[in-house]
Amino acid sequence: MAEDLILKGTTKEQRYKELLPQIESLVSDESDVIANMGNICAALKYGMNFFWVGFYFVKEDTLVLGPFQGPVACTRISKGRGVCGSSWETKKTIVVPDVDQFPGHIACSSLSKSEIVLPLFNSSREVVGVLDIDSDQLNSFDTTDEMYLEKVLSFLKF
Ligand code: SME
Repeated sequence: MAEDLILKGTTKEQRYKELLPQIESLVSDESDVIANMGNICAALKYGMNFFWVGFYFVKEDTLVLGPFQGPVACTRISKGRGVCGSSWETKKTIVVPDVDQFPGHIACSSLSKSEIVLPLFNSSREVVGVLDIDSDQLNSFDTTDEMYLEKVLSFLKF
């Protein structure tokens, strides 16, 4: 049975450091990737106080909404469109300090101000989805987020 997250740190780095082993233990006994994605979204949203955390899956030529926590969101995003579609196309993590300055940004909520999107790879290094995290503050994400979120994604096996 999962227990509540315990987080005392005040800096972003401290909170990620506390959160990571808790996420790892949450997902390590479960082989179902959807169940693990659901708990990862909840742990990141409530542990890090993000506005929206969710996964999109590559399905043919479109990204389709998967497990998420936060307000309702766009269900389909084409390859190359928005931050998510660009991360899929370029196979790279994209940090957006101000969503209004990102050409083609798809605004699922007007409250979202900054964003980070990381691609998810299978063992053949094909992109199978993306993790998208939105903040209601400008400039919320940097290389610290990128590093810890990559570790979180390494817990998921495709
Ligand atoms: N802003 C994203 C769309 C997804 S929502 O933020 C949940 C984008 O531009 O791809």
